[in-house]
This record gives sequence, C-alpha cells and structure tokens, in this order.
Amino acid sequence: MELLRFSAFWCGTILFGNIVIVDAEVMKLRTLCKFCDVEATSCTGKGSCTVECDRTSICANDEEVCVSIWRKKDDNVTLETVCHHPAQKLYGLVLEDYNNSKCEMKEKWGMGSQFFICSCTEEECNANIFFNSNMDSQVVAVILVSLVPLLVMAVIVITAFYFYRVYRQRQAHSKGKKGPSLDFSDGCAMIIDDEGSDSSSTHANNLNHNTELLPIELDVQVGKGRFAEVYKAKLKQGSSVSKEQGFETVAIKIFPYEEYASWKNEKEVFSDADLRHENVLHFLTAEERKVQRQYWLITAYHPLGNLQEYLTHHIVSWLDLWQLGSSLARGVAHLHSDHTSCGRYKVPITHRDIKSPNILVKSDLTCCLCDFGLAMRLDNSLSVDELANSGQVGTARYMAPEVLESRINLENIESFKQADVYSMALVLWEIISRCSAIGEVKEYEPPFGNLREHPCVESMKDSVVRDRGRPEIPNSWINHTGIQIVCASIEECWDSDPEARLTAQCVAERFDDMEYLDKLSDRSDSEEKIPEEIFVVDEK
Ligand code: ADE
Repeated sequence: MELLRFSAFWCGTILFGNIVIVDAEVMKLRTLCKFCDVEATSCTGKGSCTVECDRTSICANDEEVCVSIWRKKDDNVTLETVCHHPAQKLYGLVLEDYNNSKCEMKEKWGMGSQFFICSCTEEECNANIFFNSNMDSQVVAVILVSLVPLLVMAVIVITAFYFYRVYRQRQAHSKGKKGPSLDFSDGCAMIIDDEGSDSSSTHANNLNHNTELLPIELDVQVGKGRFAEVYKAKLKQGSSVSKEQGFETVAIKIFPYEEYASWKNEKEVFSDADLRHENVLHFLTAEERKVQRQYWLITAYHPLGNLQEYLTHHIVSWLDLWQLGSSLARGVAHLHSDHTSCGRYKVPITHRDIKSPNILVKSDLTCCLCDFGLAMRLDNSLSVDELANSGQVGTARYMAPEVLESRINLENIESFKQADVYSMALVLWEIISRCSAIGEVKEYEPPFGNLREHPCVESMKDSVVRDRGRPEIPNSWINHTGIQIVCASIEECWDSDPEARLTAQCVAERFDDMEYLDKLSDRSDSEEKIPEEIFVVDEK
C-alpha cells in the first residue's frame, strides 16, 4: 500500500487493479480507506468484523475520513465502506468521533433499518469494525435514558411525601397545642394516626402518646368493676376531642396503680383499631395519671347505662328486643371474627366476661360491649402461661359448664368463643324476660336468679353441670313467633356440648332473617317503670 502514497497530480479516478485513486492532489497525505460502497456482508453486527471489501482507495481530499456503515433490514445485511468529508452529512448524519484510530460502531435510530456507523482517520481503519464497546455504551445509554425519568420521578415522589409528612406533623403539632390529638375514625376506613402512618391493625392506635393529658373534669361515678371505677366526665374546651366529634362527655375507667396489669390488658385489647365496631364501646385513649397514681381508659359515654340497669327499669317491646339482641350478637360476632367488615385480617378476641352489666345500651337501643379487662387475643402471641391461666375466668353466674369445670379445650381458640356464646345466650334470655311480647312480665331477675347474689363456682357447677339447669323458658314466651325463634337459638347457644352451640355470627344472621317480624310487634315502645335509684350492679 505504501507504493500508492505518492505526491503527484491526478485528475479523475485512476484504478490500479483493485486500488482506486481519487483526484489525487496530494499536498499532504490523504487517508487510505476501504471503499466498496454497499456490499452484502456476513458481519452479524456483534463483536468485531473484518470487512470483506477488497478495494482500498486514497480519499479524494485530505479532509476525508474512512467510514463504515453496517445495516440490517429484514434478512438483508449490508456493509458500506467509503471515504467521506466530515463537514458534510452522510445519510443526514454528522460524523462523530472520526478522530479515531479504530472504527467503533455506533447505533443510530430512525434510519429505517438497524444502522451502525463508524468513522476514523488511520489508514484502512474502516477495514476492522468494532461493535462491542459501542454496544456497551449504547446499552448504558439506553439504561440511563430509561432510568433517569424513573429516578427523577422517585425523587419527586419522595420529596412530595417528605413535605406532606412535614405538613401533617405541623398540623398535628398545632392541634397538640390545643390539646392532645386523638383519632375518632370508625368502621372500615384506613386509620391514620397523628404521625400520618397507617396503623389500622396495630396497638398503637388511639393511645395518647402526648405527654399532655386530656383536660378532663370528672363528674359522677356510673359504675364499679372488679378492678376499676367508671366515671362520667366532661372534656374541657380546647381539647381535640371536641364537640364536633361528639365527645364532649366521656366515660373514664379509673384503675388504681395496683391494677396496672388489668389496665394494660384492657388497653391492649381495646386499642386494637380493628376492634372498632358500632357494637363495641368506642375507645378513645389511655392515660397514666401519675399525680393521682391512676391509670385511665377514656371511652364514649352512654347515658342509658348498662343493660342490666336498663332491663331493671324498663320493659322492652319486641322491636327493642330485636334491636338489643341482634346488636349484641353482631358485637360478639365482630369480636370473635378474624376479619373486619372490610375483609382485612384481625385478631379474634374472646371477651370471657359477657354479662348484662358489661353491655351498654346506646341511645338507639342497640348494645355495645364493654369491660375488656378479661378479654384475650386469640392469636399466636398467647404464652403457655397465659393459656394455662385462662381456664376459668369470668363471672360464675354466666360461666359455661366447661369453664365451671375447668375443662375448656385451651388448644382450640373456638372453645373460648363457644364459652362466650353460652354467656351471650343468658343475656338474650334476660332481654326476653323483660319483653312485653312474652305476656306477663316479671321484675328483672338475672339468670339463675334463685341463687344468691354472687354465686360461687361450686354452686353454679351444681346447677349448670350436675343438674344441667338453665334459666326457664315458659311456654307462654313462645306464643310470639319472633321470641320462639330467639328462644330456639338461645337453647342451641347454651347447649352443654360447646361444639353444638351456634356461633355469634349465626345468631346475628338469625336475627337478620327475622327483620320482617317487626310488623308483628305487639307494643312498639318500651315502657318505662317508675325509676328507682340507679346504681350499678357488678358481680365480682
Ligand atoms: N358504665 C360503664 N361504662 C360506661 C360508659 N361508657 N358509659 C356509661 N356508663 C358506663
């Protein structure tokens, strides 16, 4: 090839065998390039290829550089080798990086075919073409091009989220200045705590994390339980538990410091947001009142008081019975259920002390369950000790036979639900006993009213286990179709065999099926007895 590098005047193109010399006014050395125009090629466009062109030319002027173009359209693969002046466009493209010793292919898009081009200035440098490094950079470029928008989006989303959190925190903070902030959302909605996080199924929800205590003014005592006393109370102005949210008046369950374990258990069960239900007492917050050495549970207040008090002072209509009974069954079914009304998983809970004093009557004459002091989460978190100690708890009068005998199957969580259903049956019986639809209505009496005020486990065992005794269902009661159906359910619910009992959900559905019986109601309004002095009866 050196033979062709001479200094002379050539006009036009002179071919020497396979060598083309173009307009060779060679004042300085012109580039020598492969120059076959377009030819079919076996080069696959990957790795490196040696071009199959056997023509070499001295470029027409000393500015020109060597160019190779690899193209693939369908099965037609071609390689073009030329000299080209970089100041001029080639196929509409400006040559890039022609000051190369190697011809490194770069892919170009929008050329109507797969299109790679390289340019270089060394002698016959377009005889060997390299796809590899180019490909890598193309791949990197493609990755970058696709990743950059994603990264930008991610940065925007994170920044927006950050500012949203800051905004929420500021809002929470400004609320906190007026008073501690609490969450009063209900039902199926996602629950957002004051930190803005989803705490729909955590214990953290509803706990007053603020060091600032709610401004509360205690009013009269409305109840007394095993471990605590319950007070009606007023939330003073300025608290976030404001009038608009309907919590001007609240109930405070006050535990002395010594009953910490009881407060903690109730708080932990109660504060599970998934426990929320219209037939479960609405829990607001828990507080430690260091000065008074007390622990508080703050809940909604229901002026009609507990079901035992209500039945003591009122005769209920069939409609009232239906409302009270079906809402009670729905509350217990919700407690026992492993899913919320939205279908989200929840921990099933056993109440273990269902009785009329632990059920509150809401203004719409529906029930809500309260006093979760003995309640237990039926999940894997139960320790062996907890299980071992969970055999016999509750109020003897309302204890299922297997609980009285301490032969409850601790390994099966259904056993705890079955024991609750037994107690619920006694409460349903109490409601019927005060319903005008049964005919003559006697004074309120608790189930097994013939026994002394606080029967012990042994005497309950004699009645319930040995004698298989249950509260009486007189024939006169079942003249009413609805009452007859409820009594049939009650008898299934207090069966000696826990496995034979209905579930609370089933009882609730039976009530639903009876809705048409509304019209059969004999008396539509509850009759109020002359009020006696109201006091709360609670069995120890
Ligand atoms: N007795 C016990 N808890 C009560 C409450 N939340 N409202 C009214 N009376 C109650």
